[in-house]
Amino acid sequence: MVDPMVFRDVLAQWPSGVTIVTTLAPGLEEAAVSWHGMTASSFSSVSLSPPLVSICLDRKLYSHDLISTSGVFGISVLAKDQAEVARRFAGMVPDCDDRFAGETWSTSTTGVPLLDSALGWLDCRVLHAYEGGDHTIFVGEVLAGHTARKSAPLLFHSRGWGQFADVMPDVVTLADTSLADAGTGPGVAGELVRAGVRVRVAAPDPQLRIGTSMLVSDRAQADQVLAAGVEVVEVVVDPADEASVGRALALVDGIADRCSVRLADAFGPDRTEPVTAAVAVFRKARVLEICLQDAAGAATPLSVRHLLQEVAALARPVPIRLGLHDRDRLGLVKAITALKSGVSHFETSLTGRGDEVSTEDLVCLLQEVDVATPVDVSAIGDLSRRLGTLPDPGTPVAAPLMHVQPLGAAG
Ligand SMILES: Cc1cc2nc3c(=O)[nH]c(=O)nc-3n(C[C@H](O)[C@H](O)[C@H](O)COP(=O)(O)O)c2cc1C
Repeated sequence: MVDPMVFRDVLAQWPSGVTIVTTLAPGLEEAAVSWHGMTASSFSSVSLSPPLVSICLDRKLYSHDLISTSGVFGISVLAKDQAEVARRFAGMVPDCDDRFAGETWSTSTTGVPLLDSALGWLDCRVLHAYEGGDHTIFVGEVLAGHTARKSAPLLFHSRGWGQFADVMPDVVTLADTSLADAGTGPGVAGELVRAGVRVRVAAPDPQLRIGTSMLVSDRAQADQVLAAGVEVVEVVVDPADEASVGRALALVDGIADRCSVRLADAFGPDRTEPVTAAVAVFRKARVLEICLQDAAGAATPLSVRHLLQEVAALARPVPIRLGLHDRDRLGLVKAITALKSGVSHFETSLTGRGDEVSTEDLVCLLQEVDVATPVDVSAIGDLSRRLGTLPDPGTPVAAPLMHVQPLGAAG
């Protein structure tokens, strides 16, 4: 016979989803019935027609007795952010006298509680109960079901909670950094801001405050720009240059939550190490965001994946913003790779100016993959049609922007 510890260890290697199995208990005092529930990962589908599912419960458990007696149970499939609920219903939270507290529950056909915030639930009547060693295999006929919420599932593996690595973000934000160069004037910037895109402006504009950013090269300028009402200052850093990193650290001191730190040429050759080190530094400084720039167009889908595997988790809770080029026509492929690697903030440009991934394309992609964005798609469409006739940033029609070097590169 297999060694019991080895058996358990092998079972722990089997990844599963996590459910809350609920049922009815005899009521206390005046209540006719009360609720009971437990965490279970032994849930499995059995048959499609008729619709049958199974759960395997330890015969020693109170839940086991209640399901045997009541003949009904509910299955609520937990989402990635519900490990706490799972712990509570597994009896892992000491002194918890009400496992159901803090969540909202509904009932359906059988009257068992079903978790409103679950990914989905099934309401079942026990059809068979088979002996399975020290467990009972309950086969339930599914009387009702509902997919309650769209998110990723909670997973259990090797005695720990987890989730899929490649989950798309819930919401994606966009920032435009090329409009200021396009000489379109504050009117267009305002429209873009109102459409939900953060816009880099060439100079503070009293009409435009929330939703704007501006490049700065030193602290005095940063203070001036912030005082003038610009929401975010952008600081360009060469991650391979210690002096540049040091200067930026000094610059953001005390205003970090309004600073977007741009790591220049993040995807260039031999940049992974300095970029990773710089991400750790600016994460510690708790800057507003760390922007990985691909101004040189060096990023490939694979290098995006590799770099983000290094830095996306490292940066948390500081978000990564990604600015991608579309010179190779793989901009959207890189964007989707980034979305699946934990990035939910991008830099794009209307009509794909300056070879950047275009705002229109990315918004379209987000719609296709069902990821929300605060950006107003139809407003973007209108602006894009109008901007299509405007000159490229290469042909400036307004006063040229102040040229900003990475800190340390030009002093
Ligand atoms: C992730 C996870 C999955 C579990 N799955 C099962 C299961 O499928 N069957 C079972 O009998 N116990 C399972 N348990 C253990 C029960 O949740 C635990 O014994 C619970 O306290 C039982 O509640 P009760 O004693 O109030 O009935 C699981 C525990 C965890 C943490």
